Amino acid sequence: MTLYVNLAELLGARIEQGLYRPGERLPSVRALSLEHGVSLGTVQQAYRVLEDNGLALPRPKSGYFVPEHRSLPALPDISRPAQRPVEISQWEQVLELVRSTPQQGVIQLGRGMPDIDSPTLKPLLRSLAKLSRRQDMPGFYYDNIHGSLALREQIARLMLDSGCQVDASDLVVTTGCHEALSTSIRAVCQPGDIVAVDSPSFHGAMQTLKGLGMKALEIPTDPLTGISLEALELALEQWPIKLIQITPSCNNPLGYIMPEARKKALLTLAQRYDVAILEDDVYGDLAYTYPRPRTIKSFDEDGRVLLCSSFSKTLAPGLRIGWVAPGRYLERVLHMKYISTGCTASQPQLAIADFIQGGHYQPHVRRMRSQYQRGRDQMSDWVIRYFPSGTRASRPQGGFLLWVELPESFDTLRLNRVLLGQGVQIAVGSIFSASGKYRNCLRMNFAARPTTQIEAAVRKVGEAASALLAEDERGE
Ligand SMILES: Cc1ncc(COP(=O)(O)O)c(C=O)c1O
Repeated sequence: MTLYVNLAELLGARIEQGLYRPGERLPSVRALSLEHGVSLGTVQQAYRVLEDNGLALPRPKSGYFVPEHRSLPALPDISRPAQRPVEISQWEQVLELVRSTPQQGVIQLGRGMPDIDSPTLKPLLRSLAKLSRRQDMPGFYYDNIHGSLALREQIARLMLDSGCQVDASDLVVTTGCHEALSTSIRAVCQPGDIVAVDSPSFHGAMQTLKGLGMKALEIPTDPLTGISLEALELALEQWPIKLIQITPSCNNPLGYIMPEARKKALLTLAQRYDVAILEDDVYGDLAYTYPRPRTIKSFDEDGRVLLCSSFSKTLAPGLRIGWVAPGRYLERVLHMKYISTGCTASQPQLAIADFIQGGHYQPHVRRMRSQYQRGRDQMSDWVIRYFPSGTRASRPQGGFLLWVELPESFDTLRLNRVLLGQGVQIAVGSIFSASGKYRNCLRMNFAARPTTQIEAAVRKVGEAASALLAEDERGE
């Protein structure tokens, strides 16, 4: 990694962790140059990166300062889902969301779509084109059921960043993270089993549980630190839970990163009650701080963690390339993979392997991380400006999704119907609960670079919400 980027990420992490307080002067260019043994120019470049990310402000003749606190929407409270296993509902609402296709004139704030317009993705197009021109057509063959060895080697290298040491032979390439999740759930559970989930939780995993005849036990979850370990322990005492399914790093939809100590404590709990953990890390590489957070898998010594991920959020979802590191469940996962899709399409696997091997992955992800961090700040400002007062919102620490909470009695299904007529789509909160809670919440995507059209769309959401609230108050 380039020296100045390294230094910018180090300083950025210190600022995000609060080691320098808002309004405080940051170390001088000269001091940093001496401390890190780099040139003055390198430090100045690092400060320019921080300035672009809104983490440092230059003041003429005085140096760089941490920006003063921006006002932020209040955080939602810790969630209070029904604390018993439930049959999963909400399929109709999920279907409505996933049936939508990109349409001219409709701003889709609801989908979990990354920004795919970055020039740093261009080398991936070149890799795909290069493969298509090859006479021996490597992308036309069936590959090993594990997936392309070239890609698995690259994934194993990337996973070192999250503290995880796995071998290419420990990995199975899947058709997106979706298939990684479904093969893992089927490898561990039987119909009728109970799975503990964070709440709110990714609807894809919950609908998989529903489709496989399992029940979800939603566990209260804090918007900054993740699943409540106290509530989880009580649930483990009370119910025969087979699997804990969570997204602890850059959670969807809340955006938190579970602190490392809590990740370790969760693993200890799982060991004590002999339960498997399904760790969804699909957004983990998009954490705003560097180095990226460690996975629970990186602390796992007895192979009970199945780590699922994909390139859908970091590169592009249309490639449909994911993977699972299933630990002791490898043989079962291979069988479930075989009966699911046999093997995953070869061409995108080879193209992604080529892209990573060519050194293009890290620069791309670095650029997206800072774009998404700026997007988060912009979206939070818009929520303050355009939403009814009293609206609460998450404080994502990575990824590109914001969770917004309106007053308890509010109905976002109604809001969504109003908005569809206005060319805006949101994700309604109830799909993130097994039992249809969170009807007063919604999720918005801030991946795309802010434009006046996106601002107008967010404004429409806020204004429509205010109008519906006013109607409710008048009893209409
Ligand atoms: C938390 C989470 N896990 C898994 C997935 C599915 O990923 P993929 O598109 O790779 O199947 C998503 C996509 O929205 C997600 O948000």
